[in-house]
Amino acid sequence: MMSAPMLRLEGVQKSFGGLTAVAALSLEVPAGCVAGLMGPNGAGKTTVINLITGLLRADSGVIALDGAPIQHLPVHAIAARGIARTYQNVRLFAGMTALEQVMAGSYLRRRTSLMASFLALPSARAALRMTRRRALDLLARVGMAARADELAETLSYGEQRRIEIARALGAGPRLLLLDEPTAGMNAQESEAIGRLVHTLRDDGLTVLMVEHNVRLVSDFCDQVTVMSFGRALVHGTPTACMADPEVQEAYFGRKEDAQRIRALR
Ligand SMILES: Nc1ncnc2c1ncn2[C@@H]1O[C@H](COP(=O)(O)OP(=O)(O)OP(=O)(O)O)[C@@H](O)[C@H]1O
Ligand SMILES: [Mg+2]
Repeated sequence: MMSAPMLRLEGVQKSFGGLTAVAALSLEVPAGCVAGLMGPNGAGKTTVINLITGLLRADSGVIALDGAPIQHLPVHAIAARGIARTYQNVRLFAGMTALEQVMAGSYLRRRTSLMASFLALPSARAALRMTRRRALDLLARVGMAARADELAETLSYGEQRRIEIARALGAGPRLLLLDEPTAGMNAQESEAIGRLVHTLRDDGLTVLMVEHNVRLVSDFCDQVTVMSFGRALVHGTPTACMADPEVQEAYFGRKEDAQRIRALR
């Protein structure tokens, strides 16, 4: 028997005024998969992530997690179902250490413990110790344990991105959405993120990542969906997607050029 995919989008539509950012998009991500979402600038990739997480509401269509529709749920309820994300632009707090960034993430999720800690209740001190240990574990998970006490702004871009991933993991997600996790990184840093994503998958997480780096997608994604102007152009293995003339046209120019280049090989 086929089980429901972990994430399913069906006919998802989102317009901003006259602009259709996502048009009748259907997409499936099986459990335990690293799925890539590619497409030129403005294709609608971030909008898809915002729709899945409930930050934006779809005009129509179904978004289902483990077969259950979630498109009507508010952000916190979707997060509680096990979906966490990182943002295209790093969102860390200035003046806070790597450890504090990750700890703040779990405090924001448990507001009552924040109040208790203001009152310095013994239970709050115990909770704080636990939160701290947990945050350290999360930093270790993304290879950042040694940087725990560094201020976030003194860390490299790649390290800041890892902290964001640690913070997202703090919510205990089953599905992790990464919006351009390697933007602005060099080849080595990017590949290291790819390897980290693989270790997360090996731990049982399902990952959907927006990624422009063709090499990274080819090496680390099990499946790819390429979007263009809000639509899914192609869906399949990285190799099949990259070879598709429509993808080559969307990325590299005219279809005729892509076909001519292919014929020359
Ligand atoms: N909140 C918004 N209000 C109005 N238009 C928006 C909004 N968010 C996105 N758009 C528009 O929707 C389209 C898709 O944007 P989106 O950010 O999803 O693209 P993207 O594929 O993530 O692009 P990039 O690679 O540049 O990050 C763009 O034309 C964008 O300007
Ligand atoms: Mg984007």
